[in-house]
Amino acid sequence: MDVYEAVTSRRAVRAFTGEPVPRAVLERVLAAAARSPSGGNLQPWRVYVLTGAPLAELRKRTAKRVAAGDPGDERAYRMYPPDPKAPYGQRRSAAAAQRFGALGIRREDAAARRAEVAANWRCFGAPCLLLCYIDRAMGAPQWADVGMYLQTVMVLLRAEGLHSCAQMAWSVYHRTVAEVVAPAEDLILFAGLSIGHEDVSVPYARIDRAPLAQTVTFLDDDGPAPPVRPARS
Ligand SMILES: Cc1cc2nc3c(=O)[nH]c(=O)nc-3n(C[C@H](O)[C@H](O)[C@H](O)COP(=O)(O)O)c2cc1C
Repeated sequence: MDVYEAVTSRRAVRAFTGEPVPRAVLERVLAAAARSPSGGNLQPWRVYVLTGAPLAELRKRTAKRVAAGDPGDERAYRMYPPDPKAPYGQRRSAAAAQRFGALGIRREDAAARRAEVAANWRCFGAPCLLLCYIDRAMGAPQWADVGMYLQTVMVLLRAEGLHSCAQMAWSVYHRTVAEVVAPAEDLILFAGLSIGHEDVSVPYARIDRAPLAQTVTFLDDDGPAPPVRPARS
Protein backbone atom coordinates (compact mmCIF):
# COMPACT_ATOMS: atom_id res chain seq x y z
CA MET A 1 0.00 0.00 0.00
CA ASP A 2 1.50 3.35 -0.97
CA VAL A 3 1.21 6.47 1.13
CA TYR A 4 -1.63 7.96 -0.95
CA GLU A 5 -3.68 4.81 -0.56
CA ALA A 6 -2.96 4.63 3.15
CA VAL A 7 -4.02 8.26 3.64
CA THR A 8 -7.13 8.10 1.46
CA SER A 9 -8.33 4.75 2.81
CA ARG A 10 -8.09 5.96 6.40
CA ARG A 11 -11.42 7.01 7.82
CA ALA A 12 -13.09 6.96 11.17
CA VAL A 13 -14.21 3.33 11.34
CA ARG A 14 -16.91 2.83 13.93
CA ALA A 15 -17.57 -0.89 13.60
CA PHE A 16 -14.89 -3.46 14.33
CA THR A 17 -14.77 -7.22 14.57
CA GLY A 18 -13.29 -8.56 17.80
CA GLU A 19 -10.31 -10.10 15.98
CA PRO A 20 -7.27 -9.37 18.14
CA VAL A 21 -4.44 -7.14 16.97
CA PRO A 22 -1.07 -8.80 17.59
CA ARG A 23 1.21 -6.95 20.00
CA ALA A 24 4.07 -7.24 17.47
CA VAL A 25 2.03 -5.27 14.90
CA LEU A 26 1.23 -2.55 17.42
CA GLU A 27 4.89 -2.30 18.40
CA ARG A 28 5.93 -2.04 14.73
CA VAL A 29 3.43 0.75 14.10
CA LEU A 30 4.31 2.67 17.25
CA ALA A 31 8.06 2.32 16.67
CA ALA A 32 7.66 3.79 13.17
CA ALA A 33 5.25 6.51 14.38
CA ALA A 34 7.90 7.59 16.88
CA ARG A 35 9.66 9.06 13.81
CA SER A 36 6.89 11.71 13.61
CA PRO A 37 8.24 15.24 13.70
CA SER A 38 7.76 17.55 16.65
CA GLY A 39 8.97 21.08 17.25
CA GLY A 40 12.34 20.87 19.03
CA ASN A 41 11.90 17.06 18.96
CA LEU A 42 9.94 17.29 22.22
CA GLN A 43 7.89 14.20 21.27
CA PRO A 44 5.12 15.46 23.56
CA TRP A 45 2.90 12.37 23.22
CA ARG A 46 2.53 9.83 26.02
CA VAL A 47 0.68 6.73 24.96
CA TYR A 48 -0.96 3.78 26.72
CA VAL A 49 -2.20 0.78 24.75
CA LEU A 50 -4.97 -1.31 26.27
CA THR A 51 -6.12 -4.75 25.20
CA GLY A 52 -7.53 -7.79 27.04
CA ALA A 53 -8.47 -7.48 30.71
CA PRO A 54 -7.43 -3.83 31.23
CA LEU A 55 -9.55 -2.77 28.25
CA ALA A 56 -12.47 -4.90 29.45
CA GLU A 57 -12.21 -3.24 32.87
CA LEU A 58 -12.20 0.26 31.34
CA ARG A 59 -15.21 -0.54 29.21
CA LYS A 60 -17.07 -1.99 32.19
CA ARG A 61 -16.40 1.01 34.41
CA THR A 62 -17.26 3.50 31.67
CA ALA A 63 -20.41 1.61 30.65
CA LYS A 64 -21.78 2.09 34.17
CA ARG A 65 -21.35 5.84 33.90
CA VAL A 66 -22.80 5.98 30.39
CA ALA A 67 -25.82 3.88 31.44
CA ALA A 68 -26.42 6.24 34.39
CA GLY A 69 -26.50 9.20 32.02
CA ASP A 70 -23.38 10.62 33.69
CA PRO A 71 -22.38 13.74 31.73
CA GLY A 72 -18.70 13.13 32.43
CA ASP A 73 -15.83 14.76 34.27
CA GLU A 74 -14.83 18.41 34.23
CA ARG A 75 -13.20 18.90 30.86
CA ALA A 76 -9.43 19.32 30.66
CA TYR A 77 -9.77 21.08 27.30
CA ARG A 78 -12.54 22.43 25.07
CA MET A 79 -13.39 20.04 22.22
CA TYR A 80 -14.86 22.71 19.94
CA PRO A 81 -15.25 26.49 19.96
CA PRO A 82 -18.55 27.29 21.73
CA ASP A 83 -20.36 28.69 18.70
CA PRO A 84 -18.23 27.86 15.69
CA LYS A 85 -18.51 30.50 12.97
CA ALA A 86 -19.04 29.61 9.32
CA PRO A 87 -17.94 27.38 7.74
CA TYR A 88 -16.92 25.25 10.72
CA GLY A 89 -20.32 24.68 12.32
CA GLN A 90 -21.81 23.78 8.92
CA ARG A 91 -19.00 21.31 8.23
CA ARG A 92 -19.61 19.62 11.56
CA SER A 93 -23.36 19.35 10.96
CA ALA A 94 -22.80 18.03 7.43
CA ALA A 95 -20.42 15.34 8.71
CA ALA A 96 -22.94 14.27 11.36
CA ALA A 97 -25.73 14.17 8.75
CA GLN A 98 -23.60 11.96 6.49
CA ARG A 99 -22.50 9.69 9.33
CA PHE A 100 -25.96 9.12 10.81
CA GLY A 101 -27.65 9.14 7.40
CA ALA A 102 -25.59 6.12 6.32
CA LEU A 103 -27.04 4.24 9.31
CA GLY A 104 -30.59 5.35 8.55
CA ILE A 105 -30.71 7.52 11.69
CA ARG A 106 -32.82 10.64 11.22
CA ARG A 107 -31.86 14.05 12.56
CA GLU A 108 -34.80 14.11 15.00
CA ASP A 109 -34.00 10.67 16.41
CA ALA A 110 -32.00 11.88 19.40
CA ALA A 111 -32.15 8.49 21.16
CA ALA A 112 -30.65 6.64 18.19
CA ARG A 113 -27.94 9.29 17.84
CA ARG A 114 -27.13 9.04 21.55
CA ALA A 115 -26.90 5.24 21.29
CA GLU A 116 -24.55 5.56 18.34
CA VAL A 117 -22.38 8.05 20.23
CA ALA A 118 -22.36 5.75 23.28
CA ALA A 119 -20.64 3.11 21.12
CA ASN A 120 -17.53 5.27 21.51
CA TRP A 121 -17.10 3.92 25.02
CA ARG A 122 -17.27 0.35 23.80
CA CYS A 123 -14.49 1.21 21.33
CA PHE A 124 -17.02 0.38 18.59
CA GLY A 125 -16.19 -3.27 19.29
CA ALA A 126 -12.43 -2.88 18.72
CA PRO A 127 -10.10 -5.14 20.71
CA CYS A 128 -7.48 -2.44 21.22
CA LEU A 129 -7.53 1.13 22.52
CA LEU A 130 -4.63 3.53 22.37
CA LEU A 131 -4.91 6.45 24.80
CA CYS A 132 -2.88 9.52 23.98
CA TYR A 133 -1.92 11.97 26.72
CA ILE A 134 -0.03 15.26 26.64
CA ASP A 135 1.68 17.12 29.47
CA ARG A 136 -0.54 19.97 30.70
CA ALA A 137 2.41 22.35 30.47
CA MET A 138 2.45 22.03 26.67
CA GLY A 139 1.07 24.69 24.34
CA ALA A 140 -0.65 24.80 20.96
CA PRO A 141 2.45 23.79 18.93
CA GLN A 142 2.87 20.62 20.99
CA TRP A 143 -0.85 19.76 20.67
CA ALA A 144 -0.32 20.03 16.92
CA ASP A 145 2.67 17.68 17.25
CA VAL A 146 0.44 15.15 18.98
CA GLY A 147 -2.08 15.43 16.14
CA MET A 148 0.63 14.71 13.60
CA TYR A 149 1.74 11.75 15.65
CA LEU A 150 -1.77 10.31 15.82
CA GLN A 151 -2.29 10.73 12.08
CA THR A 152 1.00 8.91 11.51
CA VAL A 153 -0.21 6.07 13.72
CA MET A 154 -3.53 5.91 11.84
CA VAL A 155 -1.82 5.85 8.43
CA LEU A 156 0.63 3.15 9.51
CA LEU A 157 -2.29 1.09 10.81
CA ARG A 158 -3.71 1.17 7.29
CA ALA A 159 -0.41 -0.21 5.99
CA GLU A 160 -0.96 -3.13 8.39
CA GLY A 161 -4.50 -3.71 7.07
CA LEU A 162 -6.00 -2.25 10.23
CA HIS A 163 -8.45 0.58 10.83
CA SER A 164 -8.95 3.07 13.62
CA CYS A 165 -11.18 5.79 15.01
CA ALA A 166 -9.74 8.77 16.86
CA GLN A 167 -11.93 9.57 19.87
CA MET A 168 -11.97 12.74 21.91
CA ALA A 169 -14.94 11.01 23.53
CA TRP A 170 -12.61 9.29 25.96
CA SER A 171 -11.68 12.66 27.45
CA VAL A 172 -15.26 12.94 28.71
CA TYR A 173 -14.59 10.14 31.22
CA HIS A 174 -10.92 10.88 31.79
CA ARG A 175 -11.12 10.14 35.51
CA THR A 176 -12.36 6.60 34.84
CA VAL A 177 -9.63 6.18 32.24
CA ALA A 178 -7.10 7.36 34.83
CA GLU A 179 -8.35 4.74 37.33
CA VAL A 180 -7.31 2.02 34.90
CA VAL A 181 -4.23 3.62 33.32
CA ALA A 182 -2.79 5.50 36.33
CA PRO A 183 -1.10 8.19 34.24
CA ALA A 184 1.30 10.71 35.77
CA GLU A 185 -0.50 13.64 37.47
CA ASP A 186 0.74 16.20 34.95
CA LEU A 187 -0.81 14.49 31.92
CA ILE A 188 -4.05 15.44 30.14
CA LEU A 189 -5.92 12.81 28.15
CA PHE A 190 -6.27 14.20 24.63
CA ALA A 191 -7.87 11.32 22.73
CA GLY A 192 -8.30 7.60 22.36
CA LEU A 193 -7.78 5.61 19.20
CA SER A 194 -9.82 2.45 18.78
CA ILE A 195 -7.88 0.00 16.65
CA GLY A 196 -8.85 -3.21 14.92
CA HIS A 197 -10.29 -4.94 11.88
CA GLU A 198 -13.27 -3.30 10.23
CA ASP A 199 -16.65 -5.01 10.41
CA VAL A 200 -17.45 -4.60 6.73
CA SER A 201 -21.11 -5.53 7.22
CA VAL A 202 -21.87 -2.12 8.75
CA PRO A 203 -22.70 0.69 6.31
CA TYR A 204 -20.82 3.98 6.48
CA ALA A 205 -20.47 7.28 4.64
CA ARG A 206 -17.25 8.54 3.23
CA ILE A 207 -17.26 11.98 4.85
CA ASP A 208 -16.87 14.89 2.40
CA ARG A 209 -14.08 17.39 2.45
CA ALA A 210 -14.29 21.07 1.55
CA PRO A 211 -13.21 21.86 -2.01
CA LEU A 212 -9.47 22.53 -2.10
CA ALA A 213 -10.04 26.19 -3.01
CA GLN A 214 -11.71 26.72 0.38
CA THR A 215 -8.69 25.59 2.35
CA VAL A 216 -5.68 26.14 0.06
CA THR A 217 -4.47 29.22 -1.80
CA PHE A 218 -1.65 29.03 -4.30
CA LEU A 219 0.32 32.19 -4.85
CA ASP A 220 2.35 31.58 -7.99
CA ASP A 221 3.03 32.78 -11.54
CA ASP A 222 -0.08 31.10 -13.01
CA GLY A 223 -2.88 32.84 -11.16
CA PRO A 224 -4.06 36.44 -10.98
CA ALA A 225 -1.77 38.78 -9.11
CA PRO A 226 -2.62 38.55 -5.41
CA PRO A 227 -3.66 41.69 -3.57
CA VAL A 228 -0.24 42.42 -2.15
CA ARG A 229 -0.43 44.51 0.99
CA PRO A 230 2.11 47.30 1.39
CA ALA A 231 5.04 46.28 3.56
CA ARG A 232 4.88 47.69 7.06
CA SER A 233 7.64 50.16 7.75
C1 LIG B 1 -8.74 14.33 17.30
C2 LIG B 1 -9.97 13.64 16.79
C3 LIG B 1 -10.96 13.27 17.68
C4 LIG B 1 -12.10 12.61 17.23
N1 LIG B 1 -13.03 12.20 18.15
C5 LIG B 1 -14.05 11.41 17.75
C6 LIG B 1 -14.91 10.83 18.71
O1 LIG B 1 -14.81 11.04 19.91
N2 LIG B 1 -15.86 9.98 18.27
C7 LIG B 1 -16.03 9.69 16.94
O2 LIG B 1 -16.92 8.90 16.60
N3 LIG B 1 -15.23 10.24 15.99
C8 LIG B 1 -14.23 11.07 16.37
N4 LIG B 1 -13.37 11.58 15.44
C9 LIG B 1 -13.53 11.25 14.02
C10 LIG B 1 -14.03 12.44 13.21
O3 LIG B 1 -15.40 12.64 13.45
C11 LIG B 1 -13.75 12.15 11.73
O4 LIG B 1 -12.36 12.05 11.53
C12 LIG B 1 -14.32 13.22 10.80
O5 LIG B 1 -15.72 13.30 10.90
C13 LIG B 1 -13.95 12.94 9.34
O6 LIG B 1 -14.37 11.64 8.98
P1 LIG B 1 -13.34 10.58 8.40
O7 LIG B 1 -12.17 10.52 9.37
O8 LIG B 1 -14.13 9.29 8.36
O9 LIG B 1 -12.92 11.04 7.05
C14 LIG B 1 -12.25 12.31 15.86
C15 LIG B 1 -11.24 12.69 14.96
C16 LIG B 1 -10.12 13.35 15.41
C17 LIG B 1 -9.04 13.72 14.43
